[in-house]
Amino acid sequence: MRYSLWNDRIVLDEEVIIDRQDRGYQFGDGIYEVIKVYDGEVFTLSEHLDRFYRSAEKIKLVIPYSKDKLIRLLRDLVQKNNLATGHIYLQITRGISPRQHHFPENSKPVLVANVQVNPRPLANFENGVKATMVEDIRWLRCDIKTLNLLGPVLAKQEAYENGCYEAILHRDGVVTEGASSNVHGILDGVLYTHPVNNLILNGITRNVMLACANEIGLTVKEHAFTLEQLKDMTEVIVTSTTSEITPVIEIDGHIVGTGKPGEWTRKLQKQFNATIAAVVRV
Ligand code: PDD
Repeated sequence: MRYSLWNDRIVLDEEVIIDRQDRGYQFGDGIYEVIKVYDGEVFTLSEHLDRFYRSAEKIKLVIPYSKDKLIRLLRDLVQKNNLATGHIYLQITRGISPRQHHFPENSKPVLVANVQVNPRPLANFENGVKATMVEDIRWLRCDIKTLNLLGPVLAKQEAYENGCYEAILHRDGVVTEGASSNVHGILDGVLYTHPVNNLILNGITRNVMLACANEIGLTVKEHAFTLEQLKDMTEVIVTSTTSEITPVIEIDGHIVGTGKPGEWTRKLQKQFNATIAAVVRV
């Protein structure tokens, strides 16, 4: 039996009813989070929920539950589903109302969360992946984790059709992030990453990875870089909740560094694993 969280109740999956007039369905008017679970323990839950509340505030949506209550409910959801390793998908929309663009007066937000079994992609961590460059056609509020994902969906499809794992997005040749990850390059002992602003999502994994860089003595520069500069980096990585620290070994046929995950990447992955192990028993 599988269970979902529906507003503030844990119910059987089949009991969840999504109304066709839900503004999430009609406008993508809502926000979401993807949160990793390792061996039954939810990783960086507090950080994800902080971003969830921040995203909500930015779209003027009031989440009708406290953070403590959501923490309790999401942990219960993981337990009830006996989830070992996988992730929680959590979303909230502005609610149900006859279709009109401006906010309805009396709609109640609709929250849904479910879990998915999802083993860590260890082969990607080990061997690295290919990426392709795609123009970033998204709006100018990429800091909000909105349900509107058409830009990333189109970019990811292009990557998929090119046999690539990720699309590296750029605005006028300046790399912003991946379709569903943050992108970083390493050159001469310095890790370069796009600064946190409205053009990227402030990734939770990015922040954990930056702490790891600090711990292993890798200098971090939060500077944007161009596609040409990215190609000259000796190591390129993408980070996200599900991709963790994934090395990129080829970009549109161009071989990154030696064509194998580099030494700094290996050290970062090791430190990242130690960080996970410190909070969960993996
Ligand atoms: N994606 N940038 C974008 C555009 C993303 O969609 C994501 C996450 C990230 C990385 O954020 P984090 O480290 O907090 O997961 C960066 C999630 C995993 C998804 O949509 O599936």
